[in-house]
Amino acid sequence: MTLRKIARLGHPVLLERAREVADHDEPEIRRLIDDMIETLRDAGGFGIAAPQVHAALRIILVVHLEEGNRPRGDDPLVLLNPILEPVGSERELAIEGCLSIPGIRGIIPRYRVVRYDGIDRDGKPLSGEASGLFARILQHEVDHLDGILFPERLVHPCDMAFESERKHLEDRMRSANHHVE
Ligand code: NI
Repeated sequence: MTLRKIARLGHPVLLERAREVADHDEPEIRRLIDDMIETLRDAGGFGIAAPQVHAALRIILVVHLEEGNRPRGDDPLVLLNPILEPVGSERELAIEGCLSIPGIRGIIPRYRVVRYDGIDRDGKPLSGEASGLFARILQHEVDHLDGILFPERLVHPCDMAFESERKHLEDRMRSANHHVE
C-alpha cells in the first residue's frame, strides 16, 4: 500500500465527473482501493473519493463510526459505482470539512436519511440505509464523483470559516437566519 497525494481545491480532477468502474477486479483498481484506505487512515478523514487521489473513477470510502461518531479501527466501507437516493425530504445542517480543502469548514445542508446502492470491492451488490453523519459523508463523497465540492452546497456564501473560527460557525448555524427548504 502506498500513500497517494491528495488533490486540493483548484485541481481540475476535483471538478470533473468521474467514470464508472467497469471491472472491480482489475489489479489497478485493487491497488487504488488499498492506497485509498491507507491515504484516508493517514489523513484522518471520515471519507475519501477516488478523484481526491487523482483517479477519476466512481469509488468512495466511508469510515465505520461507533458511538459518539468516533471512527472504528477496521477497514472503511468501500463502495464502487454508488447511487444515492434520499429517503424522505428531511434535510439538516451540520459543519463539514474536506481533505481537499484543508483547514476550512462550512455549514452544509444534507438529507438526513439516504439509501445507497453499489458494489463492494469484490463486485458483490452492497446497499443499505444511512442516517445522520453516515448519510452526510456518503452525500459528500458521492458529490466528489460528480465534481461537486462542499462550497457549492453552501446556503449562504459566508457559511464558511477556518477551523480556528469554528465556534463562530456553530453560533451562525444556530442563528435564526438559517432555514433548510
Ligand atoms: Ni471531500
